[in-house]
Formats: sequence, structure tokens, C-alpha cells
Amino acid sequence: MQQDMIVILDLGSEQNTLIARDIRTLGVYTEIHPHDITAEQLKALPNVKGIILNGGPNRVVDGVAIDASAAVYESGLPLMAVDHVGKVPQALPAWPEEEKARMDALSGFVFDQCHAERNWNMENFIADQIALIRQQVGDKKVLLALSGGVDSSVVAALLIKAIGDQLTCVHVNHGLLRKGEPEQVVEVFQKQLGANLVYVDASERFLTKLAGVADPEQKRKIIGAEFIRVFEEEARKLEGIEFLAQGTIYPDIVESGTKTAKMVKSHHNVGGLPEDMQFQLVEPLKMLFKDEVRACGVALGLPENMVYRQPFPGPGLGVRCLGAITRERLEAVRESDAILREEFALAGLAGKVWQYFTVVPDFKSVGVRDNARCFEYPVIIRAVNTIDAMTASIELVDWAILQKITDRITHEVPGVNRVLYDMTPKPVATIEWE
Ligand code: XMP
Repeated sequence: MQQDMIVILDLGSEQNTLIARDIRTLGVYTEIHPHDITAEQLKALPNVKGIILNGGPNRVVDGVAIDASAAVYESGLPLMAVDHVGKVPQALPAWPEEEKARMDALSGFVFDQCHAERNWNMENFIADQIALIRQQVGDKKVLLALSGGVDSSVVAALLIKAIGDQLTCVHVNHGLLRKGEPEQVVEVFQKQLGANLVYVDASERFLTKLAGVADPEQKRKIIGAEFIRVFEEEARKLEGIEFLAQGTIYPDIVESGTKTAKMVKSHHNVGGLPEDMQFQLVEPLKMLFKDEVRACGVALGLPENMVYRQPFPGPGLGVRCLGAITRERLEAVRESDAILREEFALAGLAGKVWQYFTVVPDFKSVGVRDNARCFEYPVIIRAVNTIDAMTASIELVDWAILQKITDRITHEVPGVNRVLYDMTPKPVATIEWE
């Protein structure tokens, strides 16, 4: 690891992530560590140039204000104390919440006091990770569940570069993917990047398991469990795999509501693999924030629409085909979603709106088609903006764009005679319908 590092010490702040990201924006690598970091742990971190003691509302634990370990004060490194509730231990100015002032303060500390170099960039990160992956894996084999989502796609591209055909990717198509998605995964990873790719079309198997199941939670459980079963069956067919690669990213391991001492969540996303399959984990993105994962993907040459794609739930279109899934309505979801994406791209909304998709409910309404009565399904359009998906507001899409989409959907998607727009923010509605 060649990059200089600023350590952010968690003294009960809720803004560790914000500061970590801000400094990385300045071009300097950061890591968040617990307040009681030991001298050995601190010494083991490469190229630390300074430490930010990041206090905040959770600083007082059981009536006592926690402080940084002696190792920190004895390190001889430049220290910066900040406190986001104004209760500053020493006579320091209140921490500026306003962005410009905050960036100026951080920049002054990082460059003038710590003399850190601006050397955090994706080229350096990729070069470091390739060396680290090769060191960790040696000549052994690695398995990756490649969903086609941003994180697993970037891990795949990085591992192909680092270890080539020692990597096997398994792409499970559960039949609930968007139009063109499985084809793109095969095209990019197998044809363009030359990966060992096992493509499993398990659509029929999933649809059979889901037949007649209307309860949303039940549907989610079936899709999740079946996904692991298919992946496990494929993994068992492969010989000599010792490592499992995962697209874990930094927000997954930094605890969101900082409880100071407990920093790292247990890794739960190996999820359900049988205990007799002993894998070691390869997690090359575990120190990256989402925007950095995307930048890494671009630097590795992945297509923009793969790297900048909107969030997509694991159960896929299964939770947008409401109630018991039928082939007819699933196709209506898939086709209407493709039209919506196409029209949003044409209207310049694709990169602007956080998430947008269509939903097909399990009831019909009366309409008129070719001078005759028709009885068909409606399509619901949902387009929302959010920072963290905890709350969301709707996108106020231009009427003319909505009219064009309505016209296309009602003429191009079989069995659909009506289009509705979901006006509801979160709360009270969730983003997805199920
Ligand atoms: P809700 O519907 O809870 O969704 O407001 C918030 C965000 O999470 C996505 N979502 C999922 N993502 N697996 C995922 O990886 C899931 O099971 C899942 N369910 C919802 C949803 O698309 C939205 O972005």
C-alpha cells in the first residue's frame, strides 16, 4: 500500500463516514478506527500521516466521556480534535457543519499539518489490490457469485485482471432479471473479458417454486433460499475452490450508528453456504465507498450502464409482479421496465433520477381496444429520489414524457391497457411495492 493515510478515530461521532469521504475527495486515503486502538494496531497501519479525534453525541458512555487511547497521544502524529455537538474537550472552535468551511478545515489539517500527499486514486488502488490479491490467493482458485450488480461486477473485473482464469464466476439467472441483463453479463464477462463464467438459467425452477405464492415475505424467502441452493449446487461441481470473492464495500463494515467500541459488523453475506464448504474470503472493495467502487469499475473498463446502474433488489422483478407471479404479468413488468428505462434515457433522466421502475398488480380494469371491450392489467410507474433509501421523494416527471411512456406501454406491452403514476413518498410508502 503506497498511499498516505489519515486515521479517523471514532469518539462517538455520527459523522465518521462523512469526514472519511470528504478527505478521500481531497485525494487522501482514510480509514475509520475505534477510539481504543492499540499501539500495535496503529503501527500496523501503513503510512499514517495524522489522526482526527472525531467526537460527537455518543461520546459519553455510561456517564463517562471516552477518550482516545494513550497510543494515539503518544504516537507523535499530528492530531485534530473535532466535536459535532460543540462540547469540545479543549478550547477549539466549533466544528463547521457547512461544507466549504469543513473542507477548508480538513484541507488545512491534511496538507499543511500532516503533509499528506494527494495520492489516493483508482490507478494506485487497482495496482495495490492486484498485488494484494495475488499475494493472498497464490495459485489457488476463487469463486464469485456474479449478479451483474455494480459491486460484484467490479470485483469480477478486478479479479480477472489480478488472477485471470483462477477465477470462476457463477451467474444465476433466476428469471426475475431485467430485459437484457443476463445477456449483458455473458457478453461483458465471458466474451469481452474472457472470464470463466458458469451461466445458469434457473428461470423455470424459480417460477415453479413461486407458483401460486402471493405473500410478499414468502416470495422473498423462496427467491433468497433457492438462489443459495442453485449457487451451492454449482459450487459443488467445481473442484479445488478455496476462496470466495465478495463485493463487500466500506459502508457494509462501518457501523452506521457508531457505538464507539464496536466497529465492525460480522460478515453475514456469505449467507447460507453449507458449513462443510470452508472458503476464505477475498473482499477487495471492502475499503471503498460506493462512488469509489463505480470509479474503480470505470477505470477497469466496465461499461457505464453497468457501473452507473440504479439499485435493483435481490428478488428482482419478483417483487414488482405483485401477488402470485404469472409469466404473462412478469413479461409485462419486464417489457414496461425496458420501455421506461429507454424513455428516461432519451429524456436525460436516467442519470438524474435515483431509482425508477414499473410494477404490475394482480387485478384488471376495463378498457377499449380496436373498438372492442378489453379487460387487462395496469402498469404503475414509480420514480424516486433519495440519499440513503430510508426516505424518498417522488420525481416530478414532465407530463409529456409520461404521456409518451403511457402510449408506448399500452401499445407495445401485451395485456396492458392502463398506466398509473405512483405519487407517494417514503414514508408512508416504501420504494418497492412488496
Ligand atoms: P424499500 O422498498 O424498503 O427499498 O423502500 C429501499 C431500497 O432497497 C431496495 N431493496 C432491496 N435491495 N435486496 C436488495 O438488495 C432486497 O431484497 C431489497 N428490497 C428492496 C429497493 O429497491 C430500494 O432501492
